[in-house]
Amino acid sequence: GEESSDADTSSDDDDDDGEEKAALSEHQASAGQETDVKQEPKEVEAVAHSSEPKEVEKSAQQPKDGPVRKPSQPAVFVPVDRMPEIQEARLRLPVLAEEQVIMEAVRENPCIVLCGETGSGKTTQMPQFLYEAGYASGKGIIGITEPRRVAAVSMSQRVAMEMNLPTQVVSYQIRYEGNVTTDTKIKFMTDGVLLKEIQKDFLLQHYSVIIIDEAHERSVYTDILIGLLSRIVPLRNKKGLPMKLIIMSATLRVEDFTDNKKLFPSPPPVIKVDARQFPVSIHFNKRTPMEDYVGEIFHKTCKIHRMLPPGGILVFLTGQAEVHDVCRRLRKAFPFRRSTTDTGEEEETFKDTRRFKKDKQKQAVALPRIHLDNYSALPVDEGDEDRLAGVDDDECGYEGCELDLGEDEGDPDEKADPSIPLYVLPLYSLLAPEQQAKVFQASPAGTRLCVVATNVAETSLTIPGIKYVVDCGRVKKRYYDRVTGVSSFKVSWTSQASANQRAGRSGRTEPGHCYRLFSSAVFGDFSEFSEAEITRRPVEDLVLQMKDLNIDKVVNFPFPTAPSGEALMAAEQLLVSLGALEEPPRTGRVKDIERAKLSCPVTPLGRAMASFPVAPRFAKMLALGRQQDCLPYVIAVVASMTVREIFEDLERPAASEDESSKLSQNKARLMQMRRLWAGQGPSLLLGDLMVLLGAVGACEYAGCTPQFCETNGLRYKAMVEIRRLRGQLTNAVNAVCSEGGVFVDSKMAPPTESQVICLRQILLAGLGDHLARRIREEEILDPKWKNGYKTPLLDDPVFIHPSSALFKKPPEFVVYQEVMETTKMYMRVVSAVEPEWIPQLLPQYCHYGPPLETPAPWLCPSTGTIRSHCTSTFYRVAWPLPAVEKA
Ligand code: CDP
Ligand code: MG
Repeated sequence: GEESSDADTSSDDDDDDGEEKAALSEHQASAGQETDVKQEPKEVEAVAHSSEPKEVEKSAQQPKDGPVRKPSQPAVFVPVDRMPEIQEARLRLPVLAEEQVIMEAVRENPCIVLCGETGSGKTTQMPQFLYEAGYASGKGIIGITEPRRVAAVSMSQRVAMEMNLPTQVVSYQIRYEGNVTTDTKIKFMTDGVLLKEIQKDFLLQHYSVIIIDEAHERSVYTDILIGLLSRIVPLRNKKGLPMKLIIMSATLRVEDFTDNKKLFPSPPPVIKVDARQFPVSIHFNKRTPMEDYVGEIFHKTCKIHRMLPPGGILVFLTGQAEVHDVCRRLRKAFPFRRSTTDTGEEEETFKDTRRFKKDKQKQAVALPRIHLDNYSALPVDEGDEDRLAGVDDDECGYEGCELDLGEDEGDPDEKADPSIPLYVLPLYSLLAPEQQAKVFQASPAGTRLCVVATNVAETSLTIPGIKYVVDCGRVKKRYYDRVTGVSSFKVSWTSQASANQRAGRSGRTEPGHCYRLFSSAVFGDFSEFSEAEITRRPVEDLVLQMKDLNIDKVVNFPFPTAPSGEALMAAEQLLVSLGALEEPPRTGRVKDIERAKLSCPVTPLGRAMASFPVAPRFAKMLALGRQQDCLPYVIAVVASMTVREIFEDLERPAASEDESSKLSQNKARLMQMRRLWAGQGPSLLLGDLMVLLGAVGACEYAGCTPQFCETNGLRYKAMVEIRRLRGQLTNAVNAVCSEGGVFVDSKMAPPTESQVICLRQILLAGLGDHLARRIREEEILDPKWKNGYKTPLLDDPVFIHPSSALFKKPPEFVVYQEVMETTKMYMRVVSAVEPEWIPQLLPQYCHYGPPLETPAPWLCPSTGTIRSHCTSTFYRVAWPLPAVEKA
């Protein structure tokens, strides 16, 4: 696929492109006054003229009505040869009844909002309407963005099937894979993929229509795409390259798009499609289980299966580990033998748990976690690994429970042998596509389907035959404290809108029932709508991506929901301190300075950083990584910091006394292994950086096998991810480096002593704002402060986590990856830095004085492969720094 990880920074050389970006920037700056979005009516003609001869005029034999003909617009109708049964099923979809209205609105308006209940046919039919109306028969193709990879893949396959066209024509592109060809006419993709394409071609000239699907989910990239397209579409039309924008949403709040003058000066028409929804009876629980809701879900599902008439069951949980837990218990309670020809994972689960474990491990190989379209790796953040922009709902994949399936027995009551077997299927974003596809296939005759899902099944996918929904009422989200930078994953209550959406999944084909694992009083306390993701995450990665698009005044950007000014300011400051943005002037009128602080242009370093699929702090490390041949090590460290946790949890509770003594023996051995990785002698004092590097190096040297990982307490899935990411980051770095590429062998030789020093300095340069100084004896105001550290942003001290290599010998200065709040404020992934490096490498934190004499081998910020320097005080640190000699 063309939008691989290699970012194309060369587009800056393209004058036309630059001009368009500038135009957009300008246009955007004056947003709110410009109302020039009226469209020329000639665009359908343009499409028609450029179309290929294979188009035929609509004729009487066509099975259905084509677009309404207008005198000035020749009807373009591209016939689609559907199977009769498909055509019949389509005709029952609510959107089919509105096709004429919808297509007329599309013709008359540059942008429309199409709103309809999930299952009404928006995703599968809208691309087909547009295709038949000739929107893909000229130069441009039809693009559809999905916030989830699952949906992009499965919907492209479904539409290809419905249209009886090969996947070379109806294709998909997601971060790591795709089947797009030059013949592609309809392209499903994740929103992040389209964002990357905008960076290459601002006008998206390859497309005649963009459909933004699932806009109600308000994923960060969807929001930004809508903001960008609200400007790109008028610009395209002004240039005589007509383009349409279709925003599709479930029937949730759309006012953020339509009642937003900054976004659309003249509001786009909203077309509502009524779905045939059967009544759903809602059954609230009398009490609300707070502790073991997963167990309650299991019991409730068992009960439904034993006592209620036939009909599929859809269970909503918060994450992958819970899904597996419940699947396993249900399968155990209601064993179901598949035919011998079917080697699905279900059967093996029963045969042999060890085998099941291995399957999971295999699955891990197939399921990437890091994606540019899913910026989840902020050191202080959200994750999907994708880290970050956790476009996926089940980021919990990294929380370490999936390989240790405890052996708790199901309640004996639940083992009753029901007359109908239960056919249990898991569903979550990262599940292998073949496994996901099973939910759409007919379940084996004489069984009851039970899909155990994360909220991926809430809106994007419609599972046939669901009559019962069991809703835990919760959702897993990453929380981030903007002020302190402290982050945590939390399972919290969902919103009323989401809970109702989940309930609605049961009334698609007949009246349904929704069992809620919470009381109606608790429901009353839910917020009405879920917040847009952009309001609850750090935005430095987005700000950098937008600056790379030359959108300097991010505050003026027409966000459907704007992040807070505070979050934008914090992002801008961090990016300036990393050298990704130019510094604002320090002299002049206060007002001007304040304004300039929010519109710093991107630097060449910033452009390079924007092309790396990691958070800006890590991107800075990569940009500096070529010095002293450190790059392979920097890549390994960044990759291992980006996956959430590389070690198995040594503190995990034991199931029995027996296991407990085994675990504690094991723990001692694994701790020793970590100490070995941390290095010997003086390098023992360097910290977790060395542990990460040692673990990755040793694991690769041993061939990265599941056995090696198990023996050494490493999470196999994480190690496989690291390997994949190392390859990807190597390509990304090679793409921006002018002087030849680096070759990264999966096996690394240990770094030399000087490389280690260089690496530690690179870490300091990237994590500079995560610098902490040990509290001195005389500063201790409270005995609890002992061994605590001071950081610029937190009033209270933070501590080195007991799992850190530095726990027993805390150095004076450290940098940390993130602060996680558990029983205490703990710094995770802590590495020692030398005090004398600070004024040299983080001059922006220092008050005065020239750099110290440089002990070799100095990392020199200004001679890095990519220029990077920040030489002035942009913000002041709240605590004294090491003394700097005055010249
Ligand atoms: O996008 P929206 O939620 O409005 O509906 P859709 O995804 O286009 O689905 C329309 C119908 O197609 C649903 O009622 C599904 O039953 C059916 N469908 C299916 O049977 N198999 C798929 N892989 C996708 C959709
Ligand atoms: Mg849909």
